[in-house]
Amino acid sequence: MPIGHIKNKEEAKERITQLRVLINRYRYAYHVLDREEISEDALDTLKKELFDLEARYPDLITSDSPTQRVGGEPLEAFQKVTHETPMLSLNDAFSKEDMHEWIRRISNFTKVDVSRNSDFYCELKIDGLAIELLYENGIFVRGSTRGDGVIGEDVTYNLKTIDALPLSLLSQEEVEKNIKSLGIQGLKPLSHYWPLKKLMVRGEVFLTRNEFNRINEEQHKAGKKEYANPRNVAAGSVRQLDPRITASRKLDFFAYDIVGDVGQHTHEEDHLFLKAIGFKVNEHNKRAKTLDEVFEFHTYWGSHRERLQYEIDGVVVIINKNELYDKAGVIGKAPRAAIAYKFSPKEAITIVEDIVVQVGRTGTLTPVAILRPVGVGGVIISHATLHNIDEIERLGLKIGDTIIVTRAGDVIPKITKVLLELRTGKEKIFQFPTHCPQDGSPVLRNGVAYRCSNKGCGARFRESLYHFVSRHAFDIRGLGAKIIDRFIDEGLIKDAADIFTLKEGDIEALQRFGKKSAENIIKEIKNKKTITLPRFIYSLGIVHVGEETAHLLARALNDLNKDQIITPRDLGEIGSRIKEDELYAIQDIGPVVAKSIIDYFNDMHHTILLKKLHEGGVRIKQEALSRSGRLRGKRFVFTGTLKTLSREAAKEKIRAYGGDVSELVSSKTDYVVAGEEAGSKLEKAKELNVKIVSEEEFLALIE
Ligand code: IVH
Repeated sequence: MPIGHIKNKEEAKERITQLRVLINRYRYAYHVLDREEISEDALDTLKKELFDLEARYPDLITSDSPTQRVGGEPLEAFQKVTHETPMLSLNDAFSKEDMHEWIRRISNFTKVDVSRNSDFYCELKIDGLAIELLYENGIFVRGSTRGDGVIGEDVTYNLKTIDALPLSLLSQEEVEKNIKSLGIQGLKPLSHYWPLKKLMVRGEVFLTRNEFNRINEEQHKAGKKEYANPRNVAAGSVRQLDPRITASRKLDFFAYDIVGDVGQHTHEEDHLFLKAIGFKVNEHNKRAKTLDEVFEFHTYWGSHRERLQYEIDGVVVIINKNELYDKAGVIGKAPRAAIAYKFSPKEAITIVEDIVVQVGRTGTLTPVAILRPVGVGGVIISHATLHNIDEIERLGLKIGDTIIVTRAGDVIPKITKVLLELRTGKEKIFQFPTHCPQDGSPVLRNGVAYRCSNKGCGARFRESLYHFVSRHAFDIRGLGAKIIDRFIDEGLIKDAADIFTLKEGDIEALQRFGKKSAENIIKEIKNKKTITLPRFIYSLGIVHVGEETAHLLARALNDLNKDQIITPRDLGEIGSRIKEDELYAIQDIGPVVAKSIIDYFNDMHHTILLKKLHEGGVRIKQEALSRSGRLRGKRFVFTGTLKTLSREAAKEKIRAYGGDVSELVSSKTDYVVAGEEAGSKLEKAKELNVKIVSEEEFLALIE
């Protein structure tokens, strides 16, 4: 979880203490009591938050902090093995920002600008168990688990059951041939040292999905408990006291590191050399020249991981040049120059910043949690529906709580748990409003359901949003009524301004929305943030203010205020000051319309909405709303279809030259433009003796 909510060291200290207690409790439950109280994904987010806080305040790190821990304690039953070089662990990254931060850390420490001279090696992070293998004179003599990083367990017998693990290394001849065919250059001549007296190789033991399923089927048939995941089975099998059980489970192995110097210069060469001497290395691992290539690799495998025969939980990114890698050294118990760039968790931890109430079509009120944005299952989410008051009570949720959020059925965000241990005492109880947030009518309760006493309320609100995004208003393509309904129902939008702060992940999280269409909608919304004043006024849906009146009003307001209406908030301020007689001065605006405009701008809800639109980035396009020009004061009415241009374009031309357009023919009309199949307006024009022009004549007028 981002640590933005922590404002100072005091708060950090309190949060760090709470996080440590909680992480330790979950670990204990999992390892000692065999109870998984929280998913690994969620636990990872807690650990990451602790890590980030400790990185910000390093003097708060204590040696017993969970961040300082590597692996598990060795079991009593196995012989102890001391690793000559400690087996380190990796720090985690969950986002691009984390990765940039990682680069900064290395650059600061080594004084080498890594972002410029970058060269990375990307590996699939296999979800298994790390082991170390010792070869003496080319023969496998001992294998051990990581243990606490310094002391592990001798599991040689069990490891010998793994086919992928060579019991002896290839001969000098074979290795030489492989080195050549793999194109590895710059190694020390093999004849000087082969077979190596001593070689240490590290890698990951894992179980394929097929094998995992087969084992679980057997467990099931035997009426035994099924295993939770392949990694647990792999770990359990390696640490079996009876090697026959290990042998019955077909474990697999990928090598990823070599401890020793054979003249290799890069981590890529480590891998090639491992392959040359007979180890199985992962074929998908790949060098990346830039961080963007790293991101590409990460994104690709994030969405293709299910196709692999084994589970991966991220990408290990390593500084490729060994010299720089070594120079970067170790931080805590992890190398500074390597990082585990995890895939987005299916569960994450974040804070409920607020609980708001959303109004359904029939006026039902639904509470929705506003979350501090967090990545879950590959998308950023910021809302989770709470369904009803019962759900809030069941969860024991307060505003300000730290919670676990998942994407139910991998789609809709759902709060599954409140982490009571992380309460600070500042959390607030949520009170259901007594009045509808939409129209202020009293709220009625019926069992767990609340509804606005005005039955039309929800529907009216929806209509106003459909209008807001419609063709002649904000013209947000792709955001039709159905989609607006979905957004409202999911609690993503409570007013028009919320449209502008939607996140891609919010949209994608809704069923049937793909990544691409989510991206498109967000892009379209962003493109439409700047709008002309007439359109903007029209979009507000002020009673009696249609398109034409919006134009007249916009022009009048602009004249009165000399280009000062740049944002929605400016309009709000100017609108609230406008006087009735100023409005009367505008042609066509009579007492009823004037009152409606004045009422609109003096309603506090609208002031807030305009301010929110301003904050959401909506801006008003500065364009000349011409009062001069050759058509000044002339009024046009259209009837029938134009051949050479759309009616909308024709209207814009008229306005650009200072003229006006109205819908109805009256004695005040100067021209009726008659297109094909002109209707009753033409009759009316004849009746009132209004000048009638053809399309051609009209074009001549405006050209
Ligand atoms: S490189 C300093 N490469 O992830 C450790 N590790 O917490 C360098 N892992 O302990 C490890 N796949 O158990 C590396 N391709 C890979 C890996 C990998 C899985 C595990 C390993 C390590 C842990 C990091």
